[in-house]
Amino acid sequence: MKTMTEKDELGSYPTDRRGFHLAVIYSLGTLIAMGLGVPAAVYLLLPPKSRREDQWVEVADLKQLEAGSPEEIVFRRHRVDGWKVSSEKTSAWVVKKSATDVVAFAPQCTHLGCAYRWDENRKSFLCPCHNSNFDINGNVLNGPAPRPLDRYQIKLEGSKLFLGTVQKSEA
Ligand code: FES
Repeated sequence: MKTMTEKDELGSYPTDRRGFHLAVIYSLGTLIAMGLGVPAAVYLLLPPKSRREDQWVEVADLKQLEAGSPEEIVFRRHRVDGWKVSSEKTSAWVVKKSATDVVAFAPQCTHLGCAYRWDENRKSFLCPCHNSNFDINGNVLNGPAPRPLDRYQIKLEGSKLFLGTVQKSEA
């Protein structure tokens, strides 16, 4: 008697009941292996989703801001890193100059990254860590900060203000 793995004289496998059951078992085994193997291969071989964060985030309505009065605006930015999606809180110092002219500064001092604030009495941004001062345009008044404040990319849609990524300033 021939087994399932032995072909007959015509080159075919036997078609008796035992052969049929073996064929079913082998087919199921193949299907299970594919069911497990294909997702594993996709996971191992395809690169993860690339790192990405929201390009533009709506942060304010310019109609709500007072011209010439810097305001710290806190907002959330979503970040996709591989399979992980996170949301982080950040802020910007927004200075509205007119209905269509606005700048937004990154919230870290360009010396060593401390958080600075607007000093209404001195009419300048003051960093408490080492006393750097910046004017309302972000320029250094007093060091040790080596360069102006970094700025966000900005986009206006009507009166809606959108912030993009931070652009490093030049010394
Ligand atoms: S970190 Fe701002 S002056 Fe040093």
